[in-house]
Amino acid sequence: MYLIPVVLFLHYTPTLCSNILGVFIVPSISHQSVFQPIWKELSLRGHNVTVVTPDPLNDPSLTNLTEISVRFTYDFLKRKAMQEIISKDSNIFHSMYAAACFVDGVVEAELNSTGFKELLDDESNQFDLILVESFHPGMYALAGRFKAPIIGVSALGAVEVHHHLIGNPTHPVLYPDVLFGLYNIELLVWNKIKSTLWYLWTQYHHHAIFVPRVHDIVKKYFGEDLEYLGDLEKDQSMLFLNVNPVLYPIRPNVPSIVEMGQMHVKPVKPLPEDLQQILDDGTEGVVYFSLGSNVKSVSLDEKLRNTIKEALSELPYKVLWKWESDYLPGRPKNVVTRDWFPQQDLLAHRNIRAFVTQGGLQSIEEAVSRGVPLIGMPFLGDQPSNVQKIIEMGIGLGVDPSTVTKEELKNSIIDVVENNKYSKRIREIRHLLYDKPMTGLEKAVWWSEYVLRHKGATYMRSPAADFSWFEYLIVEVVLVSAALISVVIYLSYKVFQLLMSKCRK
Ligand SMILES: *[C@@H]1O[C@H](CO)[C@@H](O)[C@H](O)[C@H]1NC(C)=O
Ligand SMILES: *[C@@H]1O[C@H](CO)[C@@H](O)[C@H](O)[C@H]1NC(C)=O
Ligand SMILES: *[C@@H]1O[C@H](CO)[C@@H](O)[C@H](O)[C@H]1NC(C)=O
Repeated sequence: MYLIPVVLFLHYTPTLCSNILGVFIVPSISHQSVFQPIWKELSLRGHNVTVVTPDPLNDPSLTNLTEISVRFTYDFLKRKAMQEIISKDSNIFHSMYAAACFVDGVVEAELNSTGFKELLDDESNQFDLILVESFHPGMYALAGRFKAPIIGVSALGAVEVHHHLIGNPTHPVLYPDVLFGLYNIELLVWNKIKSTLWYLWTQYHHHAIFVPRVHDIVKKYFGEDLEYLGDLEKDQSMLFLNVNPVLYPIRPNVPSIVEMGQMHVKPVKPLPEDLQQILDDGTEGVVYFSLGSNVKSVSLDEKLRNTIKEALSELPYKVLWKWESDYLPGRPKNVVTRDWFPQQDLLAHRNIRAFVTQGGLQSIEEAVSRGVPLIGMPFLGDQPSNVQKIIEMGIGLGVDPSTVTKEELKNSIIDVVENNKYSKRIREIRHLLYDKPMTGLEKAVWWSEYVLRHKGATYMRSPAADFSWFEYLIVEVVLVSAALISVVIYLSYKVFQLLMSKCRK
């Protein structure tokens, strides 16, 4: 038995009603579904909440909530499909650069939109707290404009640069960057060197290239006298990360980091009738196949698509495939396609026996919450390291989409369905995940109000936040020590030479 976090909700006294601004920039429902409960709950607690988002809730019963929709940014995604960003893949530099430029464009378009302009131009607008998606530095400019404490919120974890900004301990070998795709301490020496170089490069890139570039963009909208974005970003009061020590690598956190988790997992709702029927009939087992909202099955390259199709057709189970088009050429008889499935509710059906996923954190959390073992097929971002974690925890298997064969995919799925060690393990993990004193949402709301009550939490700021990487890696200590040692060696050598020549005489 597991408890969905709806019980015991928020029984502490509310802070006086405040004006809160939330700006969540990325047009991706998997990001927004993590933020939605936060802004909804804050408004239900009587705060006057204004939110800029591509995915407004549009719920008229939320009377203290004003939503400014920037839904048009989804067109950006269509034009510049995620696949394009990842297609020249396996090159982490390229993917990171492409993703950053993509979000630059989104941020600029949002700032240039009418809704946002009105928000900025209205001198009477005042906010006591600002929440921004920490993915990109651009919106930290709001802290300068409204002179309010700011909290960064991430739908995922954070890259090492962001950990460093808030003064969290960073270490390229103990905590390799999540984008690096490796999180194991048992890295080979070569990987340790690569991880260190990547760490140094991302620090350099962020501070010397990325933030100055974004500063130039945002100052067009905030005015020339905008405080430097890099300083505003460092002055954030707290950072909320959607991670937890069960599904994510363990690392120490400074007090200004709050770990949320399972933000978007909701109580199970009944399925649409037709889907319920299909699942009820699938007593031999049903496999659910979905690569999430960013990687579209329909635009995978043809070879991979055929491999998947053939592997699925040979399975002795029914398959539900999230396929974003009406037509799948040569659709196997056992495969049902839809462009969308109510994933959380579907995973709760007893006949679902395995979930093939791209390895997005939200999908993994849903699978764990419903106890369905996984087959990970990672493409981009943090997916490779998430899938590594799936394998390590024993809650499923992983395949590499660039090399996977039909047999390998088919056998992995059959293994996960038939071998009950995976489902047993995932139920144990579920028990761990839900055994905690407060839900992620309760924490996010409590700490937001804490920052409101104390007008910021900068006193919690870690001294490491003010260290440059140069100081942080004690480079000057190493250099001065090396210089001293050189001097000692040199002097000893000279004395030795002198003695030798004396002796010879
Ligand atoms: C709106 O806020 C007021 C307090 O400012 C509160 O009493 C009321 O319950 C809130 N309404 C909703 C629907 O959240
Ligand atoms: C709520 O916030 C909006 C800003 O988005 C502001 O225009 C409005 O006056 C605020 N309402 C109250 C009651 O403070
Ligand atoms: C901003 O919007 C205006 C029209 O509202 C448009 O002419 C202009 O090109 C936009 N600028 C950018 C950088 O998108």
